[in-house]
Amino acid sequence: MPRTITLSDGKAIPALGWGNGSGGLNGKEDPAIEFGITALKAGIKHIDTAELYKTEVATGEAIKQAGAKKDDIWVTSKGLSAAPEALKENVKDRIAKLGFKPDLLLIHNPFVPESGKIAQFWTLLEDLVLDGTLEGVSLGVSNYRPQDLKAVLDVARIKPVVNQLEYHPYVLTHLQPVLDIHAQHGIVTEAYGPLTPLLRHPSGGPIKPILERIAGRLSKETGKEVDAQSVLLLWTIQKGVVAVTTSTKVKNIEKIVQVDTLPDLTQEEIKEIEETGRKVHFRNYKEHMEKDFATPNLPEDL
Ligand SMILES: NC(=O)c1ccc[n+]([C@@H]2O[C@H](COP(=O)([O-])OP(=O)(O)OC[C@H]3O[C@@H](n4cnc5c(N)ncnc54)[C@H](OP(=O)(O)O)[C@@H]3O)[C@@H](O)[C@H]2O)c1
Repeated sequence: MPRTITLSDGKAIPALGWGNGSGGLNGKEDPAIEFGITALKAGIKHIDTAELYKTEVATGEAIKQAGAKKDDIWVTSKGLSAAPEALKENVKDRIAKLGFKPDLLLIHNPFVPESGKIAQFWTLLEDLVLDGTLEGVSLGVSNYRPQDLKAVLDVARIKPVVNQLEYHPYVLTHLQPVLDIHAQHGIVTEAYGPLTPLLRHPSGGPIKPILERIAGRLSKETGKEVDAQSVLLLWTIQKGVVAVTTSTKVKNIEKIVQVDTLPDLTQEEIKEIEETGRKVHFRNYKEHMEKDFATPNLPEDL
């Protein structure tokens, strides 16, 4: 059974997701279908797509062509590039493109609503749940900073169940005010870019040797090939955070699926990764979270 995380509305989201919005997949239908099928056949149970990625049709197609039952696969979409008066039509378009209602629908970033209209936009989205258009669909946000979350929570009849943002050990110090709001309101953190420390940081930074050491221990104990990337994903989901990663390589897709079968990290290991990561600030996707949300005075590396 895949690890799941329970959302505040009671639904269980598979803790590991495969996204079709990055690398060679973003904006390209055919690879999103081809690798979507590969991912599903390998055992992925959660696909992350978006209006922006132009991969919603491909997501539905991949599920169909893989012979999977939609009910067994969690699908998140994001979007809503519409003006408020066109929101209902936009939402219907999301559903039409996928061929089903998504399990979770996110506002892609705080700049989707017009300036100053974050609360109003959320209210309109809630109305679509209440009028049945989005019945059964969980609602969430993405890249929401403390001020954005507060604007929504001040008016929410339905609280966002998740906030999807770049999350890994090197943004923990910066994200603390966001994570505090999540904890207070039962909002689950969803990580995109969870492998940034290993893939995008120039040296890997101070957690790299720790992850490699733990990968060595797990490889020895399980007899499986466990890499530092797998340890970082395991750390993420053991923090209670949904990890949305991706790959177009069969071997790496299989490793993502394998993370679910690995034994838990020890509490000491989880703490060591976290405490070391907190001493650094390094973010890959800066355009939303670093605007009007002061970054900590920390080095990018130690
Ligand atoms: N809400 C937002 O604004 C937002 C922003 C960005 C992303 N996202 C979502 O999050 C998804 C993932 O984002 P991301 O690409 O930034 O995630 P990531 O997990 O940080 O990086 C994914 C990359 O890791 C590589 N990889 C995976 N397993 C590996 C392994 N075992 N060893 C070495 N490399 C490995 C893959 O490359 P290979 O193909 O070479 O394996 C892939 O390109 C996106 O597709 C999208 O759905 C959302």
